[in-house]
Amino acid sequence: MIRFIHSTYWRKRRELKVTLLGALLAGTIATVFAETGVTPKPTAVARGAQLYSDYCVSCHRKDGVGEPRVPWSIRRPDLIEAMPLNETSHAWHHSDEQLVTMILDGTERSRRRMPVFRNVLSISDATDLVAYIKSLWSDRILACQGPNHMRCM
Ligand code: HEC
Repeated sequence: MIRFIHSTYWRKRRELKVTLLGALLAGTIATVFAETGVTPKPTAVARGAQLYSDYCVSCHRKDGVGEPRVPWSIRRPDLIEAMPLNETSHAWHHSDEQLVTMILDGTERSRRRMPVFRNVLSISDATDLVAYIKSLWSDRILACQGPNHMRCM
C-alpha cells in the first residue's frame, strides 16, 4: 500500500512537472504574440512606420487606406487591389500572430500580387509592422481585434 501511494505520488509529481514545463513554454510563445487587442508600443510603431514606407506604402498607400477599387467595366480580370489595412477593411479580424504570418508568407490570394517577405523581413520587423498597422485603428476596433471581431460587427 505504501509503495503504491509512493509511486502514485511520484507519477503525479512528474505529471505536474510536465504540465508546468508546458505552461512555461506556452507562456513564452504567447508573450511573443500576446499583443492582440493591446495598444502597441510607440517605439514599435515608429519602427513599423519606417518599414511600412519602405516596403508596403506603394500598394497599401499612405495611412493604410489601400488602393481604390477599379470599376468592373475597366478592370483587368486578374487584378487584386491591395486592401486597406486601416479599420475600414478586415485586417483587424486577424490576431497579431496571423498578421505576422500574412506579412511574411502572404495568403494564397495575396501571393498572386504581394511579394513574400520571409527572406526580406524578420519576425521582429513583421511584429513592428503589425504595431504600425494597429496604430491606424481606433481603440474600439483594437479592443475587438482577432477572435473578438464579432463584437464590433
Ligand atoms: C505589390 C503590392 C503589395 C505590396 C508591396 C504589399 N502588399 Fe499587402 N497585399 C497586397 C494584395 C494584393 C493583398 C491581397 C488583397 C486581397 O486578398 O484581396 C495584400 C494583403 C495583405 C494583408 C492581408 C490583409 C487582410 O485583411 O487579409 C496584409 C496584412 C498585408 N497585405 C500587409 C502588407 C504589408 C505589411 C506590406 C509591406 C511589408 C505589404 N502588405 C506589401 C498587395 C501588396
